[in-house]
Amino acid sequence: MVVNKIKKVAVLGAGTMGHGIVELCAMAGYKVSMRDVKQEFVDRGMKMIRDSVEKLHAKGKLKESVETIMGRITPTVDLATAVKDADLLVEAIPEIFSLKQETFKECEKYAKPECIFTSNTSTMSITGLAKATKREDKFAGLHFFNPPVLMQLVEVIRGEKTSEETMKTLVDFVKSIGKVPVRVEKDVPGFIANRVTAPRSVLLFAMLEKGVATPEEIDATLKKAGYPMGAFELLDYVGLDVHYNGQKYYSETISPDFTPSKIIEEKVKKGELGAKTGKGFYDWSKGRPQIDLSKAGKIDPLDLVLVEINEAVKLYDMGVATPQDIDVALKLGYNRAKGPFEILKELDVKKVAQRLEELSKTYNKKIFMPAESLKTGKIAKVLK
Ligand code: 3HC
Repeated sequence: MVVNKIKKVAVLGAGTMGHGIVELCAMAGYKVSMRDVKQEFVDRGMKMIRDSVEKLHAKGKLKESVETIMGRITPTVDLATAVKDADLLVEAIPEIFSLKQETFKECEKYAKPECIFTSNTSTMSITGLAKATKREDKFAGLHFFNPPVLMQLVEVIRGEKTSEETMKTLVDFVKSIGKVPVRVEKDVPGFIANRVTAPRSVLLFAMLEKGVATPEEIDATLKKAGYPMGAFELLDYVGLDVHYNGQKYYSETISPDFTPSKIIEEKVKKGELGAKTGKGFYDWSKGRPQIDLSKAGKIDPLDLVLVEINEAVKLYDMGVATPQDIDVALKLGYNRAKGPFEILKELDVKKVAQRLEELSKTYNKKIFMPAESLKTGKIAKVLK
């Protein structure tokens, strides 16, 4: 299938990510159905899309009218209606593996045989999800970043049986909606951008548990260092449930060091999920939280960078992606000024490895131990 044969997209899930993906497709000229399990979720998704499209229209960023774009979207609670004539399916439902598998199985009943199935999962095995279908060659990861409308990156993830034709079609599709695709050639938990940042969360919560600093003190430090959002602000923005489920998945698939902290577990249990519920680490009832930058300075932000660099080097060692692609993924997926390898170039590799060993001892986390080619210094050659 070539990309111009994709005329209709079906997006499952009208939540934080689903509605943004629908909006992008409609703005790019695709017909798109948006399905969720309750009418109120679908209505909320449509309202969020309209608000965003109106905002972009008012800024003169759209060539078409708001109504033309909205007119391409079919909101529905009926799975068969959403899926039946779609050429591409994008699943963006909650991060529960069995729920995703069941949903894909159900979609098999209604979808055309040539329809490409994709999952926007943040972390989970694409190969495993594909097994719920009869089209493992036409199944891949299509991972957007929040907010999809503003973030440039989309990771295109190859499962064990994904065909090259499917990968190429998806890469072209991503370009056709104005985004930058990065190919992830190995299906590892968290893919590239989320995987690189996962140990940072482990360190953040270890710091909280040790009483090193409060969320606001950490966020003030990061904002002062030039990050677009503080780390806890970003967790709230993404959704604490999404983050919790992701870390849990890493704890089962990579290392128990990723086991989510009690701090986040309690918030999820209380339904304090961040921006979408109005409360998480911050109060979002009046919009984005105001972080008091005078609270900066309690931590060294470089430590948070080092554990990310370490994970990036591990991905390189595993053959998941090139250093260049890993840098692009972090810059465009998280709006960072520099990628992990670009930062590593400016540091002394030996000192980086030493500090990682210290962090591993201080916080009793094996995952912070330096990656093989950091330990041996081999990575320095790659950086030249
Ligand atoms: N639609 C249209 N416009 C929007 C919008 C949307 N959905 N969201 C924000 N905007 C507009 C705002 O209204 C604002 O417009 P204005 O300048 O006219 O007032 C403009 O965008 C800028 O927004 P803000 O003033 O709120 O603030 P920022 O300048 O900080 O930009 C941001 C917002 C682009 C989100 C920036 O804070 C950022 O890059 N944050 C980091 C986001 C990030 O890291 N995302 C990845 C998360 S991980 C993930 O998604 C993976 C998944 O698997 C979990």
